[in-house]
Amino acid sequence: MKIIYKQNILAQTADELRKKSLQTGFVPTMGALHAGHLQLLKQAKAENDVVICSIFVNPIQFNNAADLERYPNSPEQDIALLNDVCDILFMPSVEEMYPVLPTEHYDFGTLETVMEGYYRPGHFKGVAIIVKRFLDLIQPDRAYFGEKDFQQLVIIRQLVQDYHYKTIIRAVSTVREDDGLAMSSRNRLLSPQARAVAPFIRRTLSEAKTLKEKKKPYEIAQWIQQQFDNNKSFTLEYASVVNAKTLEEITEYSQAESIVACVAVWLDNVRLIDNITIV
Ligand code: PAF
Repeated sequence: MKIIYKQNILAQTADELRKKSLQTGFVPTMGALHAGHLQLLKQAKAENDVVICSIFVNPIQFNNAADLERYPNSPEQDIALLNDVCDILFMPSVEEMYPVLPTEHYDFGTLETVMEGYYRPGHFKGVAIIVKRFLDLIQPDRAYFGEKDFQQLVIIRQLVQDYHYKTIIRAVSTVREDDGLAMSSRNRLLSPQARAVAPFIRRTLSEAKTLKEKKKPYEIAQWIQQQFDNNKSFTLEYASVVNAKTLEEITEYSQAESIVACVAVWLDNVRLIDNITIV
């Protein structure tokens, strides 16, 4: 695996790959890699000639300095994991990516004002800035994003459409621990006690899905809220049942072709998100 630290070298390398008509698959990450990332890389490997991965903890997508400070970081371990599944690793410094503070603005309308966007103001602007920079540098044939970050996936699709990128966005199913907890770099921050109760998130969402014959979408959202309110280990930030395309909360099943229930919770001072497709 080749490791690149500079933007101009990455752009030049990607250009050479294009000249050789090699297909490139790009997997952006913030490191602290786990089996979920490996699944993205595996799919990228299966569909492309060359796999490019980035590790960059993007400071401008953190709306909370303490969250950025605590974000897990394990570069040596990550590099060892990537060796077999990645051809090129881009690992820039913050100074390399942002020699001056970025000033560009994006407007994703409702997509960025609900759920994560509401509770983490500015988060998706930061994500859009870095992902667009990566797409401009690499111009990959395909880029891979996990469904766990469902709202991010919808926004990236919008970004690609708005800027007429040729890159195909591939959504990859959430990888879970045996007990159902969605893989996340933040899981490392959980105490053993918190880790033991964390599967409650997935169990609640799975049970919520079974209620679709009996309850309307907004009642499912209320039901999820009650479950977390009754469990003292968790503080629920939001439980939203939304149209999978517009991310707007819906009241009736007829309002959307596909419906997703999304939650964000605090557990042991760690913020976790998950979602499930209801229809
Ligand atoms: O999903 C993530 O890890 C990040 O939001 C991403 C896409 C790498 C951008 O920093």
